[in-house]
Amino acid sequence: MAVSLKVNGTSHNVPAEPDTPLLYVLRNDLALNGAKFGCGLAQCGACTVLVDGKPVRSCITPIGSLGGVEITTIEGLGTAAKPHPLQKAFIHEQAAQCGYCINGMIMSAKELLDRKPNATEGEVKKALAGNLCRCGTHNRIVGAVLRAGRELGGQTNGHIGGRI
Ligand code: FES
Ligand code: FES
Repeated sequence: MAVSLKVNGTSHNVPAEPDTPLLYVLRNDLALNGAKFGCGLAQCGACTVLVDGKPVRSCITPIGSLGGVEITTIEGLGTAAKPHPLQKAFIHEQAAQCGYCINGMIMSAKELLDRKPNATEGEVKKALAGNLCRCGTHNRIVGAVLRAGRELGGQTNGHIGGRI
């Protein structure tokens, strides 16, 4: 059967069963490979996308539960020519090592900065606490989110201080 999904502003009819995880459809049917398969168990955050602006773990989200919602993937944030401030900041801070976790870090940070661009270092760490980085680049990741927050209009969040 086909399931209708709206992803990054475009509607798609996907030939898949309603219990198919969103991550599989994004990567295998829609060629949106930014979201990554890490654990498949909602434990690592590598597969994070936004559903109506809220971060969800696409590895455990069945597409049948997504009728009438707006799904945003990292491909929907910006382009190489016009990157989102978060994408620019992650590049500027050299926040990726292997890069596998970075999709989830950016998408979780997007939700935080959308509601609070002046998020503090503590708030950034809390928002990203469920996103795991096996390379240990957490300090640079937090620094990148704070940098993006400043570009997006936050005034009081300061600079990176400690580790998460
Ligand atoms: S792959 Fe979804 S949380 Fe790890
Ligand atoms: S940069 Fe490698 S997992 Fe985070």
